[in-house]
Amino acid sequence: MSRLVVVSNRVPLPDKAGNPPAGGLAVALHAALRERGGIWMGWSGKSTGEDEPGPLSIRENGAIQYALTDLTDRDVAEYYNGFANRVLWPICHSRIDLTEYARREMAGYFRVNRLFADRLVPLLRPDDVIWVHDYHLIPLAEELRRRGVRNRIGFFLHIPWPPADIFFSVPVYEAILRGLCAYDVVGFQTDYDVENFAGCLRREGVGEPLGGGRFRAFGRSFVAGDFPIGMETAEFAAIAAKSPDDRRIREMARSLGGRDLLIGVDRLDYSKGIPQRIEAYERFLRSAPEYMGKVIYLQVTPASRSEVPEYASMQETVASEAGRLNGALGTVDWVPMRYINRSIRRPVLAGLYRLAKVGLVTPLRDGMNLVAKEFVAAQDPEDPGVLVLSRFAGAARELDSALLINPHDAEGTAKAIQRALSMPLDERRERWDHMMKRLLSHDVVQWCADFMAHLEPPTHRFLPEPAP
Ligand code: G6P
Repeated sequence: MSRLVVVSNRVPLPDKAGNPPAGGLAVALHAALRERGGIWMGWSGKSTGEDEPGPLSIRENGAIQYALTDLTDRDVAEYYNGFANRVLWPICHSRIDLTEYARREMAGYFRVNRLFADRLVPLLRPDDVIWVHDYHLIPLAEELRRRGVRNRIGFFLHIPWPPADIFFSVPVYEAILRGLCAYDVVGFQTDYDVENFAGCLRREGVGEPLGGGRFRAFGRSFVAGDFPIGMETAEFAAIAAKSPDDRRIREMARSLGGRDLLIGVDRLDYSKGIPQRIEAYERFLRSAPEYMGKVIYLQVTPASRSEVPEYASMQETVASEAGRLNGALGTVDWVPMRYINRSIRRPVLAGLYRLAKVGLVTPLRDGMNLVAKEFVAAQDPEDPGVLVLSRFAGAARELDSALLINPHDAEGTAKAIQRALSMPLDERRERWDHMMKRLLSHDVVQWCADFMAHLEPPTHRFLPEPAP
């Protein structure tokens, strides 16, 4: 079996005992890397504070090598805080209004991709299979090809791919599109993303579908398709099932004083629709005042990308909206909303999901949104909570038994919250069963195997069955 080389902007490092960090993607990719042997390469998350990026630092853990590079302050500003998170992120989430395009930052993005390619080439063996992740590294395959790399290279985009008109508003869109077409397999989260990508090729007149998921563009052919990412469903469900014994969950349950819990868990990001969610919750309380004092909405929101101005201002907006809501509707013995700005460890999170009657996952746009899946997986099969899910999350393509809402429609979302809180047990069970079956049959291990089966060199894929 050929080695696997994973490249991503951030690298989830194992703890001192060599265990991978929690989270489906890290666990599944570590399992694949352990099985085949290989490398996980990426940014260390640090900057050198000097004019030159640091040397590649290699750390061994069994069959896996971690290859990490520090970047310069300028790289971080231009590549990460700049082009990746002020152009590609907003564009892919259909927010042209929030893009801040600067040629210097675009040059920094391509420069860091060249640096990654320069550093990766000496580590590669001819039959390694390379799997690149996410929007930070779209040009990497083209850079590797320029350096003579002939290996199979796959790419998975964790975020949405936008419609052509939106994508074309990036001044260097052609270089980005051509970069994607230098891979052998390009994976998207949903069929809608694949349609948008195919629409970009067609409208630009640079490529066409050949059928069966194959495309020809910029003089080469490759596969592009939807590979909706899954989670570690069974493991997470088992952790959640044990959570009622956890002291922290018992304390949380006590603090609710018999009130129903609604939960939202999101990185602080404008794509998550948190202010719109607070507005919908307020509308729900005002239109169904019998619930005042009877429900609590917990919003868990770790800060993110705080050096990007749009994120800093979202931080202020959410904090002030949460404060305003509590000031307007709270009483001396009840606050409608608890808002915390830090992340929560997965076992506790699993318990909180299970404690909640309603999961609020209402992004304005989201590639997949694994919180939606985690909420479902954590529920008690005998008495499951209800998922209120934005139709604009990739997860809605699979979890169509959730209460699907339009996050721009505060009244509609408010009604869905009320419906969720009053849904009869039979209906809750039926909806949950349907979603849980899907999550069990399409988990993250399956996702990884499916992508790898497409990426594997054809000779490996079509080996004849051994004679009986
Ligand atoms: C999204 C992206 C990931 C990214 C994560 C956290 O899920 O798809 O690539 O790692 O956000 O963002 P950060 O900028 O902190 O790495």
